[in-house]
Amino acid sequence: MSGDFKRVAVIGGTGKEGSGLAMRWARAGYEVIIGSRSAEKGARVAAELNERAGVSTIRGTDNASAAREGEVVVLTVPYSAHKATLAQIKDEVQGKVLVDVTVPLKPPNVTVVYIPEGGSATQEAQDFLGDGVKVVAAFQNISAAHLKDPEHAIDCDVLVCGDDKAAKQVAITLANAAGMRGIDAGPLANAVVVEGLTPVLIGINKRYKARGAGIRITGIEEE
Ligand SMILES: NC(=O)c1ccc[n+]([C@@H]2O[C@H](COP(=O)([O-])OP(=O)(O)OC[C@H]3O[C@@H](n4cnc5c(N)ncnc54)[C@H](OP(=O)(O)O)[C@@H]3O)[C@@H](O)[C@H]2O)c1
Repeated sequence: MSGDFKRVAVIGGTGKEGSGLAMRWARAGYEVIIGSRSAEKGARVAAELNERAGVSTIRGTDNASAAREGEVVVLTVPYSAHKATLAQIKDEVQGKVLVDVTVPLKPPNVTVVYIPEGGSATQEAQDFLGDGVKVVAAFQNISAAHLKDPEHAIDCDVLVCGDDKAAKQVAITLANAAGMRGIDAGPLANAVVVEGLTPVLIGINKRYKARGAGIRITGIEEE
């Protein structure tokens, strides 16, 4: 395991995207705490994920407790729940890196780019949480269809945006641990594009009858 942290909280980790990431990080040797609006649901889903992933290092609790316990906090909730969830964890994430996976979508048009009032979901998170939290955008373009089988190799890159280099390195470390290549995609201001790629990919999935369209960056040296 690389990086100088070992406990990762996944807020909304009971859902499709967060549960797949949680299983992969647990298999890579991290302690994972999944957060839910209900501590009971968090604990129940954690037990299921341990079984599916063949590990015993995933725990589940309520969102605030998970955020308190995690050294790094990952947010995987629907955009409609973004602000409310951030409010639940605001005090607990001060001084930490928050990796925001949220994609702003405006159902039912989920194949059309939607730019929220604050510029991007990640920018809204940074503005709401304040300078004490280093917010990074990552994993928006990785389909949960790829993540749910922890043995499945994912042929996609993870674009990482943020204003703090060390915080971006945390997300790159997590991408690598989950079996993908993390790529520094520039400042937080670029998150609008990374978030916007997801409705583009959802549309490609629909038109080409695929489940896990993704992106790869070509033309750079392999690290
Ligand atoms: N699914 C994908 O393929 C995919 C790919 C890339 C990015 N994303 C993004 O990742 C985020 C999570 O996606 P997901 O597919 O994992 O979502 P999801 O399964 O629908 O929801 C994730 C979790 O969010 C929590 N939640 C909190 N408030 C909620 C509310 N008002 N309504 C519904 N759920 C609420 C729920 O946990 P509790 O009930 O336990 O609180 C739920 O299990 C989204 O922003 C999505 O755009 C998803």
